[in-house]
Amino acid sequence: MQNFTLHTPTKVLFGKGQVFHLREQLPDNARILITYGGGSVVRSGLLEQIRRELAGMTLFEFGGIEPNPAYETLMNAVELARAEQVDFLLAVGGGSVLDGTKFIAAAAHYDLTKDPWHILETVGTEVRSAIALGVVMTLPATGSEMNRVGIITNKSRGEKWRFASEHVVPRFAVLDPKLTYTLPERQVVNGVVDAFIHILEQYLTYPVNAKVQDRFAEGLLLTLIEEGPKALAEPHNYEVRANIMWSATLALNGLIGAGVPQDWATHMLGHELTALHGLDHAQTLAAVLPALLQVKRKQKHAKLLQYAERVWGLRSGSDAERIDDAIAATRDFFERMGAKTRLRDCGLKELSIDTLISKLAARGYTALGEHGDIDLVQSQHIYEAAW
Ligand code: NZQ
Ligand code: ZN
Repeated sequence: MQNFTLHTPTKVLFGKGQVFHLREQLPDNARILITYGGGSVVRSGLLEQIRRELAGMTLFEFGGIEPNPAYETLMNAVELARAEQVDFLLAVGGGSVLDGTKFIAAAAHYDLTKDPWHILETVGTEVRSAIALGVVMTLPATGSEMNRVGIITNKSRGEKWRFASEHVVPRFAVLDPKLTYTLPERQVVNGVVDAFIHILEQYLTYPVNAKVQDRFAEGLLLTLIEEGPKALAEPHNYEVRANIMWSATLALNGLIGAGVPQDWATHMLGHELTALHGLDHAQTLAAVLPALLQVKRKQKHAKLLQYAERVWGLRSGSDAERIDDAIAATRDFFERMGAKTRLRDCGLKELSIDTLISKLAARGYTALGEHGDIDLVQSQHIYEAAW
């Protein structure tokens, strides 16, 4: 096992009715900006419920944060937060609202002589402080509710970049599985696929004898395989929603990634596809991951065999056959959930591979993966295999 430092300071309020404990989490005299997305929390009544819970406190609101949150939109909230001297942000929504709110938190405190896009250009390394934030999560998928990452899109530049900072880790996260009952099927699928691939990015690398992390990861994968299809068949099954929600949070809160090598190439290649073609985040991953596993099967040999046996119960056949079967089982799981696993089936006429590769080059993504051996040529092979 590799050395690690793990700090997960987010207080988790999990379960039915935890929104009733929201007020206790907020400082009495706080000037609070509630952020939300395109209206799902208005339609579900959640925003109104939160307004009632927080009646009497100093509240401001900023709605309209879109999926793949845009820098251009978020800068309006940064102005509002600065003008009203907001000192607490409450994000209510999915990963996009949460990520967008992390950006608002960091940007509002950022060096006034710099355009806050600089936070993305420097991957968050120059963030020195941020407005405190808490979240009410409505879409289990990203793990953003308990981590230090934000992914922001700059529409005018056609870039989708990430930043990370300990200053934007949520102080608390309200996770009520009932809030996910209203999710459209497409978002249920996206959430399960995204969480599944977060786990694989930290698990399907090479062995370092990290038995606890491996078995945690395998447990989470098995849970998603078991519960994912049930969430589609029985949208109001609380236990199913609860198990999915907690799996998605644990998939990317640092726990299973501590002390192990990590890949993340699928995500980096996927972000370029979203920036260029507008595909949903999870949809990009469902197509890129099986292609990447084929291209990198030699480097991932030992963990692919472990995955085949422990997650898919594949014990017979040669090594190569078991690896093929494990990749096929993964593809089949995504497709059974309702995701496409080939880019050509995602409504694209063709893939602008030259543009994708030049974007990766411009960002300096020329040595991706757990071995840093996915160069631009290999990235091109992966994109081609994902078509
Ligand atoms: O905008 P509203 O109206 O709220 O509707 C949203 C949105 O249209 C809707 N939705 C959310 N909760 C709902 C609901 N509809 C009905 N009922 C509910 N309970 O779902 C749509 C998608 O929401 P979004 O927040 O975009 O989805 P998701 O949570 O999958 O977030 C995706 C974003 O997170 C980033 C992705 O790149 C993408 O930008 N990621 C963030 C990560 C992180 N911070 O660590 C890691 C991930 O790998 C990912 O990259
Ligand atoms: Zn993801």
